[in-house]
Order: sequence, then C-alpha cells, then structure tokens
Amino acid sequence: MNISKYKFLKYTINGNRLFISILIGIVFICSVSGQTDRQVITLEKNWKFIKADVKNAQQIAFDDSTWETVTVPHDWAIKGPFDKEIDKQTVAIVQNGEKVATEKTGRTGALPYIGVGWYRNQFSLPNFSSEKKVILLFEGAMSEPEIFLNGKKIGSWNYGYSYFYFDITEHILANQPNTLAVKLTNVGLSSRWYPGAGLYRNVRLIVKNKTSINQWGTFITTPLITKNLAKVHVKTKVSGKQLKLVTTIKDADGKIVATNTTETIFDNEFEQNIAVKNPVLWSPENPYLYTAVSQLYAENILKDETETRFGIRDINYEAERGFSLNGKITKFKGVCLHHDLGPIGTAINKSALRRQLRILKDMGANAIRSSHNMPSLEQLELCDEMGFLFLAESFDEWAKPKVENGYHRFFETDAEKDIVNLVHATRNHPSIVMWSSGNEVPDQWGSQGAKRAKWLQDIFHREDPTRPVTVGMDQVKATMASGFGAVLDIPGLNYRTHLYEEAYEAFPQGLILGSETASTVSSRGIYKFPVEAFKMKQYDDFQSSSYDLEACSWSNIPDEDFVLQDDNPWVIGEFVWTGFDYLGEPTPYDTKWPSRSSYFGINDLAGLPKDRYYLYRSRWNTEDETLHILPHWNWEGREGETTPVFVYTSYNSAELFINGKSMGIKKKNNSTPKHRYRLMWMDVKYQPGTIKVVAFDDDGNPAAEKEIHTAGKPYKLVLESDRKTIKADGKDLAFVTVSVVDKNGIPCPTATNQLKFKIKGDGIFKAACNGDATSLEPFHLPTMKLFSGKLVVLVQSNSNAGKINLTVSGNGLKTEKIIIQTKI
Ligand code: GAL
Repeated sequence: MNISKYKFLKYTINGNRLFISILIGIVFICSVSGQTDRQVITLEKNWKFIKADVKNAQQIAFDDSTWETVTVPHDWAIKGPFDKEIDKQTVAIVQNGEKVATEKTGRTGALPYIGVGWYRNQFSLPNFSSEKKVILLFEGAMSEPEIFLNGKKIGSWNYGYSYFYFDITEHILANQPNTLAVKLTNVGLSSRWYPGAGLYRNVRLIVKNKTSINQWGTFITTPLITKNLAKVHVKTKVSGKQLKLVTTIKDADGKIVATNTTETIFDNEFEQNIAVKNPVLWSPENPYLYTAVSQLYAENILKDETETRFGIRDINYEAERGFSLNGKITKFKGVCLHHDLGPIGTAINKSALRRQLRILKDMGANAIRSSHNMPSLEQLELCDEMGFLFLAESFDEWAKPKVENGYHRFFETDAEKDIVNLVHATRNHPSIVMWSSGNEVPDQWGSQGAKRAKWLQDIFHREDPTRPVTVGMDQVKATMASGFGAVLDIPGLNYRTHLYEEAYEAFPQGLILGSETASTVSSRGIYKFPVEAFKMKQYDDFQSSSYDLEACSWSNIPDEDFVLQDDNPWVIGEFVWTGFDYLGEPTPYDTKWPSRSSYFGINDLAGLPKDRYYLYRSRWNTEDETLHILPHWNWEGREGETTPVFVYTSYNSAELFINGKSMGIKKKNNSTPKHRYRLMWMDVKYQPGTIKVVAFDDDGNPAAEKEIHTAGKPYKLVLESDRKTIKADGKDLAFVTVSVVDKNGIPCPTATNQLKFKIKGDGIFKAACNGDATSLEPFHLPTMKLFSGKLVVLVQSNSNAGKINLTVSGNGLKTEKIIIQTKI
C-alpha cells in the first residue's frame, strides 16, 4: 500500500485549532518535499456520534451538539451491556451438522451492534484550489455505509469489511468547513460472530494535485530474483498529461539502491523494470523491506510523490513439494484470526495488533489467515515488518446464505468490486502469499458453485497474477463431485482430517492446505476429570477442559493435524482455528447463556496463553526450548484421586516427580497422535506439594527442569506490563497482566478475587479482560474478577509525555502499583 511520508497528519476541528494544525501540516510538508503538497489527513478526533436513525442528519445546518463526541476508529457496541436478547438466533447451523433449530444466545457476542448509527465531522481545506483532487478513504465501516458531504449523498458501500474511497473533489467547499456525515446500518442475523459496529477503521482525506498518482495506483512485483540481482517491476497508474515518472528504490536504511526515469506511458500506466543489485530477501526470519519513492512530473514540475513499501521475495507452490519461499520449503504454521481485539472490540489499534503478533511469534507461528474477511491495513503493515506470511480472505458467504442477512444479499452486485479493492489496496505487502475467495461457502454444492469459484478466482488472477487462490472447503466430498475443488489453485481443507489422503488423490493440484484446523476448545486454567477425549462436551460451569482433548463434532485435537503436516510433504501447512479467542460463537455453549465468546483460542480473549499455546510452541518454535506442565497443582478435595499430568515440551522425553517421588520417564512415541506430541502421566494421584519435571536431550542427559507448587491463600497482587514505556500518542496501549500470589510468591491458579483499578497521570484506563467466556462484566469499567488467577488491564497513553500510575486493589489483598512511562 502507499505509505505517504505525510501520513497521519492529525486533524482537529473547529476554527483556529484546525487551521493551525493544517498550517503546521503544510509547513511540514513543504519542508519535506519542497514541491508537492500531497496530504494524508486522518479524520480522527471530534467526531459526533449517535446510535439512532436521525432524520436530516446529513444536512450542513443540523445541530449535533447533543451527540456524543468520539474518536475514530470507534466501535459503538463494545461497551455493552451484554444482553441475551441481542441478535438471538433461533437457527440450525447447517455447516455444523445441526438439523434442528435451537436458540443461540451469544452467537454475535450479545453486544448491541444492531441498529443505525450516525457519525458527523467537519473539516476545512484552506489550501484547496481548482488544481486539487480530494479522495475520501474508508478503511472499513460496519456496515452498509452511506456517505454524505455537505448535505449531498456521495456514495455508499455494502460490505462492512471492505476498503473503499470516493473522489469528493467536486463536493468540496473551499475555505469553509465541509460537513461529512456517515450513516451505518447493522441488521440482525447478519453475522456468525461479533462484527463490531461503526467507523471501526481509519477514515482519511487525501488531498493532492489533479495531476497525480492514482489511489492504490502502484503495483510492485519482483518477478526475477537471483543472488546478485532482483528485477523489480513497478506499474504506476496516473492522471495527467505530459508526464514523467521517477521511481527511486531505497533499502531499509533509506539508502538509494536504484532509480529509473520514464516518459513512456501505456494508456494511463507507467511500467518500469528496475534492477536492484545484491537484494536482501524478505522472509519471516528476516523481514527486510525496501521503499519505492514515486515522483510524478508534468513538464518537469514535481506534481506528486508517494512511497510504497515492498519486499523482494519469491513464492512458489509445487505439486508434491509444497510451498517454498525464496527457494526454501516452508510450511504454514498459521493461525486464523477474527478481527476483534477482545476487550477493545473491533476499533483498530496497532499496539493491540502488535502484541498479538509478538505472542504468536514467540509461539513460533509464521502465518495468519484473516478469517473470513479483509484484514486491516495496520495488521498487514505489522506482518510485513515482523515477518508473518498472510492468507488474505474475502468472504464467508457467496450467493447462498449461511445467515439470513449475510453477504449473499450483495454477492452478485458487489463481489467483484470488493475483491478488486482488496487486491488493489494490499497487493504490495510482501506478507500476502495467497488469497482466499471464501470460507465454507454453501455454494460448494452444485455446479453453480464451481462456476462462482472460477469467476472469483479469475478476478483475483486478473488483478494480481502473482498469488494463488484458495477456498476453505468443508464439504470436501461435494467439491470432489462438483469440480469445485479442482478449479482452485490451492485446495484448502477445513478440518476433515480423514479426507486429506482422498482429497490429495482426487484433486489435480498435488497439494493440500489445512486452511482451517483443530477447533479444539478449552478455557484457560480450567481442568475437568476424568481426563478423556470428548466432542461437544458441556459442563455445568460452561467451561471446557484445558487438557486439550475436547473438540467439536466436526473438529479435532491439534495432534491430529500435526501428524498430517509432519508425514506428508504435500500438506503445505495449517491455519489453526484460532490464535486468540474472539467475541461471539461460544461453541460448544452456543445455546447456553451467558457464554458470549469463543473457546477456540490458543490464547484467551485477554491474550493470555492457554496450555495449548505451549503444545504449538513445542513444535513450532524451533529456536527456544519449551517445557510446560499442566494442570495447576491446587486440587484441595482431590487428594488421592487420579489427576493426570501432561507436559508439552520440545524435548522427546522427561521424568516426572511428585513431592520428590518419580512417576517414571515418558517418551514421545507413535502409538497415537497425542503420544507423539505430548508426554502424559495418566495415573498420578493428587497430593499437594511440588510437581517437578526433568526433560532429557536425545542423549538422555537432563537438559531442563521445571517445578510448580501448590499455592496457599491469595495474599498479594503482581503486576507485569508487556512494555515499560509507551508512546504518548493517545493510542498506544500497555497490557498489564495482573495475577495473585500467596505469601511465598506462589501463583494462585484458582483465584477469582474482584479487583479495582485506578489510574493517575498521563493516561487512561482503557479496558480489562479476564478471558472468561461467560463473564458479563463490561470491559470498560475499572473493576473485574480474576479468572483462573489472572486478568489483563489495558492502559492507554494521552498526548503528554510522562508517567501513568496504575493501582490495583482487591479485598484482603495487598494493593500493588505499576508505573508506565510515556514518551513523545
Ligand atoms: C468453521 C468456520 C469458522 C468457525 C469454526 C468453528 O467451520 O469456518 O468460522 O465457525 O468452524 O469450529
């Protein structure tokens, strides 16, 4: 995507402040570019918002003074309250194999996303002239946005996940405030998860010359790479006459490594082939980024300048061999992610996204699938920078419905333009290595579906000939019969581990992708006895067991996917459902109130790792050692009862000791999938005290050890921030994990104390989350119960450099404080 160096000029409205900030912007712009005055203004502050269908709210003269003042990105529903009646869906979920309709309460998170909302903002463009062009860009608006400028409707879009823009030049009022109004409409029965609500992604104004580079007009590919040379192919769509384009390529340090000037234009597009010597290749291990600076001249006057970040990398998909990146076979060790960020909802926040990726990186994951819709541009920027491969998906529905008011309403008219915008806005991200046109679409049945699959795939190919297209298929037999599976570049299987071999034989591609895998369910820190494998198991407390043996009727435990990945070169990797818990879809408790968020996550809704995190880590993180023991060892009342102990470790064998007594050595073995990846002592009898595990290297020498202890009463709080210093930009977040320990500092794994949070200094309390899928405590209030001894507090900076002081207290517990520094 184009990253203008003038980006993120902050916008303040109302009279002088606006004028000054734009002036500062202009001064800044002039000093940087000297000549062009492209501005990217993020409309962030001082939006007026109301959740109501208000007549005439688009009019300039409309009085919005009583509306709430909000900052965008904004999610109008995340503050709740949770309510069982919201979007109650009495349906049989066909793709889950249900035949009888039942009442699903928390399916879309039980948060008030349904209804009409209006946003209004004013902006002035003091330097606007007839030479200028103004683009209004929405990076996502939930949903069915209708956009009005100065009382006139300038356009609408249906799909809430799409990026889209309008040329609003002709509607701009010069030298006076312009009134922007956006109406959003969310209908019920339109989603299978929490979709969020409102202007949840950025809204930007791009002011540039009429003679300029088109929006999303740059397309950079690297079709030829050798050790000494990369051919960088740059296509640039422009508007204007008598043009010349200068493209300069800079390395990651900003040093110029190549430049090319051309006046040869094909229609409205320049094409350049530029040699970069000794290229440094982009990969998850070394996410090296170059920048192309595009300068557009008309009659030797610089008219426009943009920057596009890109990577030099080669991707290849080969039958039987798999996916290779820069010539190296690479399996997708991926996770699927929904777009919500837990306690802060869907309002995009880069530091929350960055934290997710840091956690996944430590787990050893190398890939993300944006299920089941367009990823945020911020997430892609971070994946480029931090080194993740990306599978960018577009739809959960095509023409046939999954939910009554789903995307099928728009499919025929909108699918093409939604895909075009997805590709145009994101195609320069080196992280994206595959597109997905759909997830488990009911169109898998019948010949129409195969035609639709081809139609969509052809659109992707037309817009981007460099990446293949997949669909996540669950009706694998049907897609074998209909030809649907054979159409796809990459056949993606969702679950159906028993059909991998058959699909590999039946499909002509010679490859299978685990486009969605596992869907194991668990609740952090909760263990159930007896320890057995279950499907769709329900317990009275509406939690699932963290022994990681529970899944859905259609899904499986992680180990079964590991076998397929490890034994078959033609299985090119997997995307686990899901990296983090998300709001909505509380399977296996879809019909049980108050369950309102998922149990699928490897990490919980607060981002705290469940035990499963260490199972994936033990296999995926090949750099660092993993040695993790479960369950916790606080089982008052279970003395003498069988309490199995599992160890997730990167070592192949280990010995377990309970209070110093050996329980024997266990070795990973091939008897069953779980024995291959876990060490399990099934007959341990619980006695309070100490569990110790000693892991052995392949020569049988002790290589690592770990202990856990039975804790006494909760005594004192412990606060740990993911970062000591955050940016004073009013957006950055520190995630403070709060846990409770006994007098000896031993973590209390079952504590549920009610805590209170106080903030002083240069920031605010943003939210708290404990990862309990049944909690109805609102995220934004400064009190919450611990769940399995932990929760996370989110603290946000304001724009002052200084300190934020967070105090956490709870009845009978020693109060604790933590200081987070904030820097400009
Ligand atoms: C899949 C679906 C996902 C989610 C998951 C839960 O079938 O693609 O969106 O519903 O099941 O297991």
